[in-house]
Amino acid sequence: MAIIEQAPLDAGKLEQFVFRAVDEVGATLNAALVVMGDRLGLYRALAGAGALTSAELAERTGTAERYVREWLNAQAAGGYVTYHPGEDRYSLPPEQAVALTDEDSPAYLPGFFEIALGSVLDSPRITDAVRNGGGVGWHEHNEHVHDGCERFFRPGYNANLIESWLPALDGVVERLERGARVADVGCGHGASTILMAGAFPSSTFVGSDYHAGSIETARRRAAEAGVEERVRFEAAPAAGYAGDGYDLVTMFDCLHDMGDPVGAARHVLATLAPGGTWMIVEPAAGDRVQDNLNPVGRAYYGFSTLLCTPASLSQDVGLALGAQAGPARIEQVVGEAGFTRFRRVAETPFNHVYEARA
Ligand SMILES: C[S@@+](CC[C@H](N)C(=O)[O-])C[C@H]1O[C@@H](n2cnc3c(N)ncnc32)[C@H](O)[C@@H]1O
Repeated sequence: MAIIEQAPLDAGKLEQFVFRAVDEVGATLNAALVVMGDRLGLYRALAGAGALTSAELAERTGTAERYVREWLNAQAAGGYVTYHPGEDRYSLPPEQAVALTDEDSPAYLPGFFEIALGSVLDSPRITDAVRNGGGVGWHEHNEHVHDGCERFFRPGYNANLIESWLPALDGVVERLERGARVADVGCGHGASTILMAGAFPSSTFVGSDYHAGSIETARRRAAEAGVEERVRFEAAPAAGYAGDGYDLVTMFDCLHDMGDPVGAARHVLATLAPGGTWMIVEPAAGDRVQDNLNPVGRAYYGFSTLLCTPASLSQDVGLALGAQAGPARIEQVVGEAGFTRFRRVAETPFNHVYEARA
């Protein structure tokens, strides 16, 4: 047993830590305030509008002024809006306007806050699961988790998938342009499936997810995007989705959520066409805990505790890779299933993209 000597208490450090935590309490509450501002159109009404009074903002959004004033002050204290004391007005700086209102920007934030809020709302159930070792499935969460997930990931896919991730794979874009069969597994609301279908009109796509509610939404999204003729969605587990002879199988931010990722990987291998490719998008992570002790790792370990680990533990096998598994662990899973080639082909601050082949 290692004996660690207790350091004497440093009152200055204690005070620093408490004040840092005060800021974090404000940040925790801000998750609800950002989702509120997004839902009520407060950020959109402020964007490009110059400096508004709380009464003007309330009038433009059909909301109650007294609440809006309090919300604005919380936003100003956090640096999300700027307060102009002489005139008692508030404005949204252009950078914040992009991050808080432009759904197409990779900097778009409300989805990130929405999935965080949804995770926190369900935390009492996770606390019970930590006690008893059980799991909580993706399908058991509130709608903020499902909608927030889609709205958080979509801007990153819009910015990277067609432009850089698919071209980084060996020969895949040529196949997609000629006409390929693609399975997008664990597709959630189908953001990635629909994006690929829009970019490659000669190819056909099957999106699957074990959560029937997400698949219903994905079907609606495909119809709205006008790609439903080449995109089929089915409710199926990753280890049992239909069809074979796929030129490309994709998994976006879901392998680590699965109870049996090795079983899922075996099914991918069995359903790939000769020369086919499996693209795996996973949260960016290093292999060692100390590599992930940074702001992105902190957010992902948080999501992993509240969403990903309980999701995996709710399923058979319950391998619980966690959202910060790292490339070595992912390679191990892929190799155990029988793939012989594995390489990292791209990365962003939030994601690693891997290519696996038979
Ligand atoms: C973090 S979400 C990502 C969703 C989607 N790929 C995206 O990028 O927006 C993880 C998804 O994995 C799905 N999932 C978890 N375990 C699964 C399994 N065993 N088979 C199929 N889907 C699974 C969940 O239902 C959820 O939609």
